Amino acid sequence: MKIADRTFIISGGASGLGLATARDLHAHGAYVSLLDLNGDAGAETVSTLGSRAKFFEVDVSDTDAIAKAIEGTVAWIKETGKEIGGVVAGAGVGLPGMIIDKKNEPLALSSIDFVLNINLRGTLDLIRQALPYMTTNKPDGPDGERGVIIMIASSAAFDGQMGQVAYAASKGAVAALTLPLARDLSRFGIRAITIAPSLFDSNMTKMMSAKVKQSLTNAMEFPKRAGQPEEFARVVRDSVENSMLNGTVIRLDGAMRMPARL
Ligand SMILES: NC(=O)c1ccc[n+]([C@@H]2O[C@H](COP(=O)([O-])OP(=O)(O)OC[C@H]3O[C@@H](n4cnc5c(N)ncnc54)[C@H](O)[C@@H]3O)[C@@H](O)[C@H]2O)c1
Repeated sequence: MKIADRTFIISGGASGLGLATARDLHAHGAYVSLLDLNGDAGAETVSTLGSRAKFFEVDVSDTDAIAKAIEGTVAWIKETGKEIGGVVAGAGVGLPGMIIDKKNEPLALSSIDFVLNINLRGTLDLIRQALPYMTTNKPDGPDGERGVIIMIASSAAFDGQMGQVAYAASKGAVAALTLPLARDLSRFGIRAITIAPSLFDSNMTKMMSAKVKQSLTNAMEFPKRAGQPEEFARVVRDSVENSMLNGTVIRLDGAMRMPARL
């Protein structure tokens, strides 16, 4: 699937892994439609990227807000003529909490809902609403591709730590839905891939204490360091370009296997 002269919808595109992906795809000739909660960061990103970028302030747990952003993206595509090449569902949050705490209080349902609504429901809803505009694309190249869906899971999908039940549930679900999504979309020539990063530098991990970050770094095999967002973006680029990547979860983790506790 070619990157240049295609539009990519990227949620969480104003920061971290989503922003690095937007910059990389844009540098390779893509048009990028960025959906993010953070209006200031989104506006700043678009002002640095220029006319091949658009920003929509969206909470991905709000289905109407996604609908408006898709509508806006489709209107933009009518002007540019650059069809949707893919969706990168990058918006995500973590909210740690033990299933039962020291006071014997169970984890608040609101906290579980918050994480699932953004990481899982928001991911599926964005994909669901973008797809009708992808299935009608002109088939491209010798395989007749119409686009690619890229999702972000986490090492927590496989070895979630204490206090991560909600986050691990959301990311495990994203990993699990990758194959059935690819199967549903194969008849349209649309692929689905999930990338599961370990520790990567971003605003999300900037909030971790030095002790927590060091402990996670110690769990890496090689290289013993946090991944860089640009290294993540390279895997997205390859996922778009390499038609044989489909229905799979790519662990991007320096062979890290997270221990139960830090
Ligand atoms: N950085 C890591 O170490 C790491 C590891 C594994 C998985 N991930 C996953 O990667 C994805 C990107 O995270 P990141 O590390 O780049 O974090 P980040 O905080 O730098 O970026 C996340 C972006 O998502 C946006 N966002 C949050 N809630 C939103 C909502 N409801 N609607 C729309 N946008 C929203 C934020 O405003 C932010 O711009 C997340 O899904 C995260 O779970 C990150």
